[in-house]
Amino acid sequence: MDQTSEKFEERYRLGQKLVEQLGTVGTDPSTFELLGREWDLVPGTYAPRPGTGTEWYTGAIPYPSGGRFLEIGCGAGVTAVWAALHGCAHVTATDITDTAVDSAVRNAKRHGVEDRVRVLRSDLFAELDPADRFDTVFWNCSVIEAPREFEFTRDFEWAIFDRGYTALGRYLAEVHDWLLPGGRALVTFNSLGDADRIAQLAAEADTSLTLLDSAGRRLEGVDVTYKVFEITPNSR
Ligand SMILES: C[S@@+](CC[C@H](N)C(=O)[O-])C[C@H]1O[C@@H](n2cnc3c(N)ncnc32)[C@H](O)[C@@H]1O
Repeated sequence: MDQTSEKFEERYRLGQKLVEQLGTVGTDPSTFELLGREWDLVPGTYAPRPGTGTEWYTGAIPYPSGGRFLEIGCGAGVTAVWAALHGCAHVTATDITDTAVDSAVRNAKRHGVEDRVRVLRSDLFAELDPADRFDTVFWNCSVIEAPREFEFTRDFEWAIFDRGYTALGRYLAEVHDWLLPGGRALVTFNSLGDADRIAQLAAEADTSLTLLDSAGRRLEGVDVTYKVFEITPNSR
């Protein structure tokens, strides 16, 4: 979308509001509850409250039983830990912020799965071993497009904003390089983001998106529809 359009501005303003409403305050580690468990939270990390997509996606996505699961942008590590607790033999979790990595490491330990959850600070796939391959790769992506010149000043902003949707575009273009034969690439999107843009980015990456599941929730007084898509290459 044209970054000067009214709709773009409206979404961006909502993103700014969510940063203020959902961003953690204070400097001391705390805990939160989700999915019947208690989780560590290092300030700066996205805290997935009830009503956020994390709660629904974590229960809805197809985990590879006995297989290798890669979560991009793991935040506090809820989905990564859940995957390890629900049959994945190996989980790699990456995030671009140190605070998320710190939270996810703590949560793997707290829930006794540190032997099979590896957490890395990485911009998408950048810090993975080039030989790494996975049965399923998943990203609950940062869904609101920020202006191309946006400067990230707080870790938490990475959980809401994607500058010009460049990270999402790279994810769609690169994710299939990390799959084992028969592996699956997944991405989330929700109604706070620009559905036309994700369709455009998928086409530019020569991929197709198939809706696997969706659910409606209320988040901070706003109705949101969460969707999980499978990404398939058009020409491989
Ligand atoms: C919507 S949040 C989801 C967090 C967590 N997976 C959850 O569901 O609660 C998106 C996450 O992606 C991370 N992220 C954003 N851009 C990234 C990038 N280029 N590489 C890796 N992680 C990124 C953010 O820091 C944030 O933790």
